[in-house]
Amino acid sequence: MKVLVTGGAGLVGTECCKLFAQQGWEVMSVDNYTRAKIFGSEGQTKSNMDNTLKEYNIEHHEMDIRDEKISELVKQADAIIHTAAQPSHPRSIEIPMEDFQINAHGTLCLLEAVRAHNKDVPFAFCSTNKVYGEAPNYFSYKKVGKRLEPLDPSLKDGFDESLRLDRMMHTPFGVSKVAADLYCQEYAHLYGLKTACFRMGCITGGAAKAVEMHNWEPFFIKKAMSGEELTIFGHDGYQVRDVIHAADLAKLFLEFVKAPRPGEVYNIGGARRNSISLLEAIDLIEEVTGKKMNYKLGPEREADHIWWISDISKARLHYPGWDLRIGLEETFRDIHQALSRA
Ligand SMILES: NC(=O)c1ccc[n+]([C@@H]2O[C@H](COP(=O)([O-])OP(=O)(O)OC[C@H]3O[C@@H](n4cnc5c(N)ncnc54)[C@H](O)[C@@H]3O)[C@@H](O)[C@H]2O)c1
Repeated sequence: MKVLVTGGAGLVGTECCKLFAQQGWEVMSVDNYTRAKIFGSEGQTKSNMDNTLKEYNIEHHEMDIRDEKISELVKQADAIIHTAAQPSHPRSIEIPMEDFQINAHGTLCLLEAVRAHNKDVPFAFCSTNKVYGEAPNYFSYKKVGKRLEPLDPSLKDGFDESLRLDRMMHTPFGVSKVAADLYCQEYAHLYGLKTACFRMGCITGGAAKAVEMHNWEPFFIKKAMSGEELTIFGHDGYQVRDVIHAADLAKLFLEFVKAPRPGEVYNIGGARRNSISLLEAIDLIEEVTGKKMNYKLGPEREADHIWWISDISKARLHYPGWDLRIGLEETFRDIHQALSRA
């Protein structure tokens, strides 16, 4: 069996390449290392691929997902995991055209290649909770200890997939991802492709390349290790995120590939169990690194969520063999170890 992983050098792509290889799959990866162009050399992902190639016998293609030659790989695939993206919502405000071309047009190019050459292949799309734009910010929250919590008790376990998508701000990233997400759904409904969209909260892990505009967890830890001042944007640090290790996400994609449910959408993240406010994260990072953090508060970012926890009950119901395995502390320690080695 052969899997095609797009964005194979990225955070999620790396864990997918490794997991599928460990499970005995042949792995084809496509990544043009454009992350270094989007974020500068600190955000590069080539070193992830160099490490993966040392450990695993996978086939890597330095190629753009929009390149017509990708059809040759699509034809051979028994599963496709599409992780390649411009992944940052603040960065998309500066580069809306590139953001659209990679996220929306790039996904459409892949879907067309699948429609033309391999209609039955399971296709997992990495969507995002940013498709919901600012919708979470229209709810009311109160401070509880060092975090915010919703006033509405029905939100205790987070937002499910019924949250509205439109009539508010998204940033260009949210919009390009909504387009790609809806294209994936449409190609299931209209052409019968086996696509599903996974709308993630914060994904992280040792393969995350820390820059201020993407992957806050390793960025915070890097600041703790260097002693440099960190800026927390908006909400005085009380904003809540839910964090999933990319290795746990890769396992869900494996379950999906074994039993695809075409046209589905799933909210995925660390759920209530792995939820954390930025102030709580500072405490955890100080414990993990043994260093006192130095931070200041900055202005709120556009369309940034005040509170997000993914209600993952639908994914758990459809894929009972899957669940979150990696806790917050283990995840933060994994990142700290990876940064200590770098
Ligand atoms: N990391 C998160 O917190 C998070 C949260 C929600 C959703 N997501 C989504 O999950 C997916 C994976 O995220 P990630 O954190 O692994 O991102 P990442 O930036 O680490 O990896 C993406 C990879 O795609 C590559 N790439 C970009 N454009 C390409 C193109 N045109 N052709 C070939 N390769 C290209 C990049 O070089 C990079 O290596 C993305 O779709 C992202 O939007 C991520």
